[in-house]
Amino acid sequence: MRDFTHWLSQTSVSLAIQNAIWLIAIMQTIHILAVGVVLSSVAAIGARAAGSADAAREVAARFMPWIWAALLALFVTGVVQMVGEPARTLVENQAFQAKMAMLVVALGIAAWFQSNTRTDRIVAINRSAVIMVFALICAIAIAGRWVAYLQAE
Ligand code: HEM
Repeated sequence: MRDFTHWLSQTSVSLAIQNAIWLIAIMQTIHILAVGVVLSSVAAIGARAAGSADAAREVAARFMPWIWAALLALFVTGVVQMVGEPARTLVENQAFQAKMAMLVVALGIAAWFQSNTRTDRIVAINRSAVIMVFALICAIAIAGRWVAYLQAE
């Protein structure tokens, strides 16, 4: 992995990012704003997912597109930061590994929740799914911040 991150950090794309300090600042700002969009959208869904199946369906239809769009923004801005400084995340960083593992689980539950609201399944299960995604997103945000403190030497 060290060979790969060394190679990546010498590519023209990585060097261009490293030389544009404002770009990293913009990526970090969008990354944090997108975290806010995801968290507030999950909370909005959670507030109504305990109601009727119709209410859960309606609120999911309104907020799930925001969640997917914000996750796309997180992915793009996260990858730009990774390419700009690959060793920070990719070399033995347990916070980053935990973050990505939790993200996969959160994405799976969110996709399951979205398909579930299209049918008339039990609403209590939807509520548990929303609570789990909210807790996972909080844990992902904490892990994201810890990336900076668990960098390999
Ligand atoms: C989708 C894929 C994602 C990638 C590739 C990614 C990547 C990154 C990277 C590279 C950093 C900078 C870490 C550092 O160098 O210190 C970062 C920071 C962070 N990420 Fe992500 N991330 C992703 C998704 C998420 C999600 C879903 C959340 C939470 C909703 C999140 C929350 C954070 C937070 C809170 C920080 C710390 C920002 C700061 O301290 O300025 N990220 N992420």
